[in-house]
Amino acid sequence: MGITFDEKSRRFALETENTSYQIMVDKHNRLIHLYYGPKLHGAADYLITCQDRGFSANPYDAGEDRTYSLDALPQEYPTTGTGDFRSPALTVVDEQGVMGCDLTYQKHKIVAGKYALKGLPAAYDKENTSATLVITLEDQVLGLEVDLYYGVLEKTDVVTRAAVIRNAGEGCLRVEKALSANLDFVSGEYDLITFHGRHGMERNTDRQRMINREIRVGSRRGASSHQYNPLAVLAERDTTEMAGGCWGMQFVYSGGFVCSTEKDQYDQVRFQMGLAEYGLSYPLEKGEELIAPEVIMSYSNSGLRQLSWNFADTIKEHVIRGPWQTKIRPVLLNSWEAFYMDFDGEKLRGLADEAKDLGMDMLVLDDGWFGHREDDSTSLGDWFVWEEKLGGSLRDLVDYVHEKDLLFGLWFEPEMVSEDSLLYRKHPDYALQIPGKKPVRGRYQLVLDFSRQEVVDAIYEQVSKVIEENDIDYVKWDYNRSIIDVYSAESACQGKVLYDYILGLYQFLERLHDQFPNLLVEGCSGGGGRFDAGMLYYTPQIWCSDNTDAIDRLKIQYGTSFGYPAMSMGAHVSVSPNEQCGREVSLQTRSLVAMAGTYGYELDPGKMTEEEKAQVRGEITRQKQLAPLVMDGRYYRLSDPFTAPVTAWGFVSRDAGEAFFAAVVMEVSCNMPTRYVRFAGLEPHRFYRNESDGKVYASDALMAVGMPLPFKTGEYQSYSWHLELCGE
Ligand code: DGJ
Repeated sequence: MGITFDEKSRRFALETENTSYQIMVDKHNRLIHLYYGPKLHGAADYLITCQDRGFSANPYDAGEDRTYSLDALPQEYPTTGTGDFRSPALTVVDEQGVMGCDLTYQKHKIVAGKYALKGLPAAYDKENTSATLVITLEDQVLGLEVDLYYGVLEKTDVVTRAAVIRNAGEGCLRVEKALSANLDFVSGEYDLITFHGRHGMERNTDRQRMINREIRVGSRRGASSHQYNPLAVLAERDTTEMAGGCWGMQFVYSGGFVCSTEKDQYDQVRFQMGLAEYGLSYPLEKGEELIAPEVIMSYSNSGLRQLSWNFADTIKEHVIRGPWQTKIRPVLLNSWEAFYMDFDGEKLRGLADEAKDLGMDMLVLDDGWFGHREDDSTSLGDWFVWEEKLGGSLRDLVDYVHEKDLLFGLWFEPEMVSEDSLLYRKHPDYALQIPGKKPVRGRYQLVLDFSRQEVVDAIYEQVSKVIEENDIDYVKWDYNRSIIDVYSAESACQGKVLYDYILGLYQFLERLHDQFPNLLVEGCSGGGGRFDAGMLYYTPQIWCSDNTDAIDRLKIQYGTSFGYPAMSMGAHVSVSPNEQCGREVSLQTRSLVAMAGTYGYELDPGKMTEEEKAQVRGEITRQKQLAPLVMDGRYYRLSDPFTAPVTAWGFVSRDAGEAFFAAVVMEVSCNMPTRYVRFAGLEPHRFYRNESDGKVYASDALMAVGMPLPFKTGEYQSYSWHLELCGE
């Protein structure tokens, strides 16, 4: 088992294949963080130093010892009110708003298998090779108990964390802040890597030097957001893709979050992740508890590439569930950029014919099929088919598509309501809005109060009926605004609404998962506004961005790859010039970029030339050949699209027998230097045959110098190489 406890030193050791994590219960019963890093054989308690320091106070039970201060010690779960003035992980107040909370060790248990969290997504372990540690801390004066959960997934070098905060006393408590993971580093020089963006341009990378200050990123939007992804990396200053130490945190949660890093007065670094404090003031009556959702942590001592693999493998093997976890995803044709909402049954049948003719697997009917949804001002909440628009029943259309041996997918936005809807007219209180105030609209729509069971039930009934009656194979689950008016008509305390909302969302998705086990659900929030491990627990793929421009996508997919596997990223080919940014990019390049995710098309093939169609058929055949490699292979970022003149990436099979590399030239100029794409991950001292030209190349040269790119004029030329290990 990956977890041990040494009774004498009261030290816990959590071991994965390549990492160790150590915690100690100290002489004052405080839980001290000792170590997280490369595999350690022995104890790390010698790392802890104590000194008498000005303005760093001492807990009363330290007696005369002025060297013992929680303001300086590395801790597992720092709280407000102990003299530690760094960012706390937990702030709990009593009925009078008193903030003093001082947690000491009470007990622990170590059990086989990975813990689950009630109502929340969490990494699971089918093979039961993992282990769980639960350390219970208490503050007897407050009447508070906290269970710190640690899960150890040895093979993917992951330690997960979550916390259960319980009112074990008589009075009422309020949780004002409850993070899930806290890592304290006693020394070292670090960079922080975060993933920021906006609608249509998600997960840009940012690397900044940790200096003496606190850096906070997060989301107050009620969703994990386009603006910051709940993923962050703390890297040693010299760490690169291939070398150096780095620690990552990834939140298995889809609501607001905060990630805070702080270099303190003693040059120690704190790295934290958990629920956003914004809007959180969670009351706990006697016996009640709040679960701080899971954070997946991983460490790599061989650079960012390995860290990304740890995350990707964890998502693939321990987060995504159901048959689609391992099944190759269908190549789809989505109606959105083909017709937007301007379609009828005939156009859709035509689209199905084209999809079949081109060799695709699924037709997805996007927004506009329900209520009387002509544009985005109406009908959300009325999930019944607009038969007049379709010129018949949805079932007829689905049957038509199924008869062609294509799957059928349908768009929903279950969490939203339009004021112009039957649902809103009947139940205005179902929308989150503040009494006496006009709500803030987003895309004309309001957010439904998913913190209320009645609302979740009402929408579930409608949505599941459509899926069941029409034999739907795939659902695109969209979410197109942020939450602003946080007021639930039924809640006695508004400080719990945002948290309970996400529980309602997860409950809905879990019911869908149970009732329709074979249904493939693709998450979406105006593209990638809710691209997180929490959603991936229910939706095995997520639409990466509303931006389908291949060149922007290189950046978006690059940033996303730091935390998520390629097989989870929805990536489609759309028209050129691109409809979001007007850029012109060849069909070849557009296809190649989309092939690095779950592949599809988002255009009207009826407008293509025969030559283009022939090309699409070829690309689909090629994608189908490559799909297993994209699904199971290791992903390589070969260059950084934000800075490099050529963006290159690749997939290599686990046994290095097959590889696929691709490159897009980002900058052209006159009389350019020859660009070389340096491959990686190949078997050293061996030879590989390139499928397209049949030539055999020495792996060492491909990895040491690279493949020269032919010179071609014109922007965004792309190249690819499908290599097979050969005996020569
Ligand atoms: C936003 C999504 O990201 C798009 O792909 C599309 O489904 C629209 N919503 C539909 O309203």
